[in-house]
Amino acid sequence: MKVLIVYSHPSSTKSYTSEVLRQLEESLHKQNIAYEISDLYKMNFQSDMTEAEYEREGLVKKELPIPEDVRREQEKIEAADCIIFLYPVWWSDCPAKLKGWFDRVYSVGYAYGYNEADPTERQHSMTQLKYGLVICTAGHPTEFLDEIGISHSMRNIMLDDRLGKRFAKKEMLILGGTIDLEKVKHRHTIAIVDIGEKVLANCS
Ligand SMILES: Cc1cc2nc3c(=O)[nH]c(=O)nc-3n(C[C@H](O)[C@H](O)[C@H](O)COP(=O)(O)O)c2cc1C
Repeated sequence: MKVLIVYSHPSSTKSYTSEVLRQLEESLHKQNIAYEISDLYKMNFQSDMTEAEYEREGLVKKELPIPEDVRREQEKIEAADCIIFLYPVWWSDCPAKLKGWFDRVYSVGYAYGYNEADPTERQHSMTQLKYGLVICTAGHPTEFLDEIGISHSMRNIMLDDRLGKRFAKKEMLILGGTIDLEKVKHRHTIAIVDIGEKVLANCS
């Protein structure tokens, strides 16, 4: 069993989101779960789509080559049973770096694509993963994000669209209220501590 953590934050040491990453790693260690981290900023992952890539994606020319960095991420996905996305909420969404990961790594013929003659026929090769978990930290309290409909829109976009049917089970954990961190930290820790067990339960 293997987990891929896709971490998208410019700091892997100084931020609260990096503290959550450490707690998450501890929780996976405790259950002896193997994992790999794609630290997108540390890797300097290219988030912009080039014109050549656009030609492949937008004009659906599947015969054009897939860039090496994209292929490596796709290989990590294929080796995983579960992906955990971890990032801070920026302007009610994930940081642009992670958005660019979806733009480029979810390439046509890999993560999406249908037969034009028969749109019900799936024409992409990505293996369905057992479990997808989205964890985001947010400045606003979770209750406020619920109240103004932002939690719903974030779940709608991340879970229903980006994770979609590519994951058999999926969940989103919004760790809100970081503007007053001391008030929410304990509650967050309680939610993170059990993630290893949760991953085992959902991937068995
Ligand atoms: C550019 C930027 C945009 C942000 N946008 C939002 C937002 O739309 N909603 C929200 O609740 N918090 C927002 N925040 C607050 C972050 O979510 C919060 O600072 C983060 O969760 C704290 O984690 P960190 O210490 O890891 O950065 C934003 C922060 C930054 C830097």
